[in-house]
Amino acid sequence: MAASVTEARPIRVLALGGSLRAGAFSTRLLEAMVDIAAPALAVEVHAGLEQLPYFNQDDEAEDAAPASVRQLRNELREADALLIVTPEYNRSVPATIKNALDWCSRPHGTGSLLGKPVTIVAASPGPSGGLLALHHLRQIVHAAGAVTVGTKELAIPSVYQCFDADGAFADETVRGWLAQLLAELRASVVVPAADYARVDGEGWSL
Ligand code: FNR
Repeated sequence: MAASVTEARPIRVLALGGSLRAGAFSTRLLEAMVDIAAPALAVEVHAGLEQLPYFNQDDEAEDAAPASVRQLRNELREADALLIVTPEYNRSVPATIKNALDWCSRPHGTGSLLGKPVTIVAASPGPSGGLLALHHLRQIVHAAGAVTVGTKELAIPSVYQCFDADGAFADETVRGWLAQLLAELRASVVVPAADYARVDGEGWSL
């Protein structure tokens, strides 16, 4: 019988949330996505975007980069894919996200974003849903050599309506959209064969 490849480990996704404030809508949306994604996708939210110094090209090399940058780059390298959920600030992405992506895009040609599948979502209490932030984010991600994944362009307006009186995520329509994006992200990931050890002629495992 031909050998088959089974998914012996969940796909690893690193997530970046663009808001630093407590109780942020975008963070709550990201938390909902972590739940929706499980168990097929293991989503780890990066803690520490606010600890990154401003990008400085003098320090972009791996041996010169600050520890917080090396930590983020390593988490990204170990992830199969990246998820970014962002608010919109002045019709663009918050500086936290731009700064993190600038660090991860360098050194040129070897950045940890290179070739990485990325799903992007914007959210706003306002009527635009942060669509311009989403467009800017797409450009930034592409410039860094990563690949955006997802047939839906998800900028969620009136994002407060996604949550019930207790703060729980409760919008079934948006849940369906998020689930579709996450399924597309999962489908885009090719798990390296090196992550599997052959057991016998019929299956593989870690
Ligand atoms: C905003 N806000 C905002 N909203 C929007 O839809 N388009 C915009 O361009 C902006 N610009 C903007 C700039 C700055 C500096 C702030 C602080 C806010 C409003 C923003 O959507 C709102 O504060 C959200 O609640 C922020 O997202 P989180 O933190 O809830 O995820």
